[in-house]
Amino acid sequence: MSLRHFVDLKDAGGDAIAAILNDAMDRKAARAGWPKGKVDGDAPLAGHVLAMIFEKNSTRTRVSFDMAMRQLGGSALVLDGASSQIGRGESIADTARVLSRYVDAIMIRTDDHAKVVEMAKHANVPVINGLTDLSHPCQTLADMLTLLEGQGKLAGSKWAWLGDGNNVCNSLIEAAGLMQFDVTVACPEGFEPDAGVLADAAARGRIIPIVRDSVAAAKGADVVVTDTWTSMGQSDSDNRARAMAVYAVDEALLEGAGEKAMFMHCLPAHRGEEVTDAVIDGPQSAVWDEAENRLHAQKSLLLWALGKLG
Ligand code: CP
Ligand code: NVA
Repeated sequence: MSLRHFVDLKDAGGDAIAAILNDAMDRKAARAGWPKGKVDGDAPLAGHVLAMIFEKNSTRTRVSFDMAMRQLGGSALVLDGASSQIGRGESIADTARVLSRYVDAIMIRTDDHAKVVEMAKHANVPVINGLTDLSHPCQTLADMLTLLEGQGKLAGSKWAWLGDGNNVCNSLIEAAGLMQFDVTVACPEGFEPDAGVLADAAARGRIIPIVRDSVAAAKGADVVVTDTWTSMGQSDSDNRARAMAVYAVDEALLEGAGEKAMFMHCLPAHRGEEVTDAVIDGPQSAVWDEAENRLHAQKSLLLWALGKLG
């Protein structure tokens, strides 16, 4: 079997993603009510270790991958960019070669997407993208799982992305092409999603409308989703905030979307900027389930990457 990297969702493909999401639902149900650190009955990754490299901050990705490995019977270790030799210029290729001798899989969060591609090229173990400036495929797995749980069906669903056409937006668009659902992006001019990602989705039959009117984009949507206006590594200029302000998700916007619309946000949220307290704490918000689902989706992703699923 060739190495199962997960640099982006297309590395897995639609069938494997469906298998990952189904397995995540089964595993989640099987351990309902258990203490968080208890190992799943089958301990499928006993003896396995995941190395996690962080060149950017993280709460959810770090904790959910660590807990995923514990629940699967394995363990995880963390290298932060600054205190490892990566921070002193050791190449990604050499780091990949060395880590492959110690651990069974590598998760990396970094800035330049090319670094994850380079890591995957030189590693002899699976490499998972834990967020780059271009994409955040692990987040999209959790978001799809959250919709499946909430509404029972992914294909044909309608998602409205409001605000910055960023890394999380790019992965959602990639998923739309692979899993055949609709995404409409309402964003300011100059903040559109990646052109290559849009072209890939189009090649899979998904033309992603890019519009300026958030109310129209959200109307009738199954999911209204947004994210910070300023991602890690970007400068927090007034221009960004000024351009994004009309794309904030408030109660009126969500009411216009309709009662069935779920509100999602990958977190961390900037309350009072891209989303109001009333929305994120309100009855249509799915953000805490969404955050929890990072854990469940990534457990099944790890099983797929290590050849135990699909
Ligand atoms: N959503 C997400 O990736 O959160 P962290 O930055 O806390 O990992
Ligand atoms: N778009 C955000 C996501 C954080 C999880 C960022 O890249 O900072």
